[in-house]
Amino acid sequence: MPKEWIKRRKRDYYYRKAKEEKYRSRASYKLIEAVERYNFIRPGDIVVDLGAAPGGWIQVSREIVGERGFVLGVDLNEIKPLNYPNVHTITGDIRDPSTIQRVLMLLPRLADVVVSDVSPNISGIWEYDHGRQMELAQATLKTAASILRKGGNLFVKVFQGDMLNAFLRDVKRFFSVVRLVKPKASRPESAEIYVLALGYKGRANPEN
Ligand SMILES: C[S@@+](CC[C@H](N)C(=O)[O-])C[C@H]1O[C@@H](n2cnc3c(N)ncnc32)[C@H](O)[C@@H]1O
Repeated sequence: MPKEWIKRRKRDYYYRKAKEEKYRSRASYKLIEAVERYNFIRPGDIVVDLGAAPGGWIQVSREIVGERGFVLGVDLNEIKPLNYPNVHTITGDIRDPSTIQRVLMLLPRLADVVVSDVSPNISGIWEYDHGRQMELAQATLKTAASILRKGGNLFVKVFQGDMLNAFLRDVKRFFSVVRLVKPKASRPESAEIYVLALGYKGRANPEN
């Protein structure tokens, strides 16, 4: 890793805060801030976290849902276990339809909330990264449409760019309220932004 990058990371406020507060990632504060503002995860909820490794958003979700809720994390990479009976993790690709089946088998009932911070490895080639991020956001939308209860909520990472409007149109077909959220913990220079979609309208195929 470049020395300058390591130095910058150590100076970063959210990186240090995450270390102090024992969160597995600085990304935790993006979810905390968004939930504090929009209240889309509640105690007792069932939350599915897509692209969940190393587990910062799982920790935050578990804190909110408490003992009565349930959290399931999915990632290509193995997630180090979290020691709660109501937190589960699986290794899988969210683009693979069999992952949806595995998620549904593990959930006690349909999910109340899907959160997705899923992200490809960044190449630095803007158009390529935007395209891959939007492909993953579409895979998140498809998964959410298969596992959410009616009225459920979605919070998903996207990259700003020319494919975003088409994605927002797709999301609006399935959710009653859709807005863009840029948490303070998301670096201002990053193209990353989050789509918050409230009130899932019911089961349908996002490809139709
Ligand atoms: C920014 S990290 C998520 C950080 C997480 N929210 C946290 O707080 O710890 C993005 C994750 O997306 C995962 N990912 C990328 N493509 C994926 C895919 N097709 N299916 C599942 N996970 C994927 C990566 O392995 C990576 O762990």
